[in-house]
Amino acid sequence: MNIVQKGIIQQSRILFQMAHRNAYRDSFQVDLTGLENNPQCPHGPMILFHRASTKKPSAITESFYACSAYRESKKCRLKIPCHKPGKQGVIPAKSTQEVPSQSPRLSGKDRKRKFDAVESTGGSLPREGWFCGHCGRLLEEDEVSSHKHKNLQKVDTRFPSRFLPPLDEERGEAQYFFDDKSLKFLLNILKAAKEKRVLYVGCPRLFEEASSEGKGSSNFLLDIDGRFERYFTPEQFAQYNMFNHHFYKTSGRENYMAFVSRGESKDLLMVMDPPFAGRVEVLANNLRQIFADIGSEGSVLWVFPYFFEKHVLREFPHFHMLDYKIEYDNHNKFKAQKGTLVNKRGSPVRLFTNMEPEKIKHPFEEGYWFCADCQRFSASENRHCFACAKCPSTDGKSWWHCGKCNRCVKPDYHHCVKCQRCHAEKCLQRTPS
Ligand SMILES: C[S@@+](CC[C@H](N)C(=O)[O-])C[C@H]1O[C@@H](n2cnc3c(N)ncnc32)[C@H](O)[C@@H]1O
Ligand SMILES: [Zn+2]
Ligand SMILES: [Zn+2]
Ligand SMILES: [Zn+2]
Ligand SMILES: [Zn+2]
Ligand SMILES: [Zn+2]
Ligand SMILES: [Zn+2]
Repeated sequence: MNIVQKGIIQQSRILFQMAHRNAYRDSFQVDLTGLENNPQCPHGPMILFHRASTKKPSAITESFYACSAYRESKKCRLKIPCHKPGKQGVIPAKSTQEVPSQSPRLSGKDRKRKFDAVESTGGSLPREGWFCGHCGRLLEEDEVSSHKHKNLQKVDTRFPSRFLPPLDEERGEAQYFFDDKSLKFLLNILKAAKEKRVLYVGCPRLFEEASSEGKGSSNFLLDIDGRFERYFTPEQFAQYNMFNHHFYKTSGRENYMAFVSRGESKDLLMVMDPPFAGRVEVLANNLRQIFADIGSEGSVLWVFPYFFEKHVLREFPHFHMLDYKIEYDNHNKFKAQKGTLVNKRGSPVRLFTNMEPEKIKHPFEEGYWFCADCQRFSASENRHCFACAKCPSTDGKSWWHCGKCNRCVKPDYHHCVKCQRCHAEKCLQRTPS
């Protein structure tokens, strides 16, 4: 396991705890009714949150509007109280402003660095350029000689995710780029799909790769990271917030609309890889707005951790979670740390889709196999259970069938006579029967 996998697993444990907190204590409820009329911060319409009493969830103790994209970070601290819960109309919404595309800053030692200029190139960028890692930007030809910085590198400008420093977790963007295996897996799905156009929501690396293989006009990228404006044309990219369907520029929305309404709606496939800290109901609401723009539900590939399966399926019951484990390449924040739990399960990140699972080929060379009974691909550790009539594992572990419960359970579960059900060992020790 490499340091990135360790980091992701560590992050997944934190997210798992968050998910549980969301599910069982649920102290904040989101209210998405009339989202577009809410007050605005620079990242578009804010989200109305209701703080509910942990003891009595129906009792709302506070209601406020907060930034949809950076609520947990210092980047957008704007918080507006709403005195009449459920009536967002009480605070007049500011008129929609056109905000300049932003070049978000990095944390730590990168904070002092300047960022890439973001004027759109209109597609006139030379394929090769010099990127100064110290200054954080692509250089003009006459500038190169004056940048004698250590991390000056020759780059292929078609692949900015390969040289731009990733934006970090705490600030909200959580930029993890696919590793080459996952990239190949996803590209193969796109190639095999019948859809002719692909909308990438927060998937810059996949977009770059697909666009470099020709047919650039059949790909469109939406991402909050305004640095991509420097590398892609307005017909390819728009700066966008996937938590409130907000476009930073009116022209961005127009170009996106032109892309999605070109051709038939059934020809459109969407790939979305949001920050994992995003609330499922907010992302689902956003997806439904994209469906409305398209005129129907397009094909969707949503990259998200397996422990949100229940939440995703609550929003879209017809979606399937696939077994493929999506891996990422690098991230600033996650470095090898002593004492990190080595976990054999691999990445917790999966694909949720409304496409037919049997058509999504998983690589045999990575241990995946085709289950003829389930008519889909399963991971090597996921053994088919004939009693349950499915390959039951979701978490990268081999589950076993408990005849008493009549269902498959996780490997560390044991049947407890006292509780008359299977549960984890720890609980058994605490409640000896
Ligand atoms: C987990 S990364 C996914 C990148 C993808 N794995 C790839 O390699 O192409 C999340 C992506 O979503 C973008 N993003 C983060 N917050 C966003 C938001 N509120 N709206 C739109 N994009 C966002 C980030 O800039 C980043 O590119
Ligand atoms: Zn904001
Ligand atoms: Zn420099
Ligand atoms: Zn099976
Ligand atoms: Zn079973
Ligand atoms: Zn028990
Ligand atoms: Zn049992």
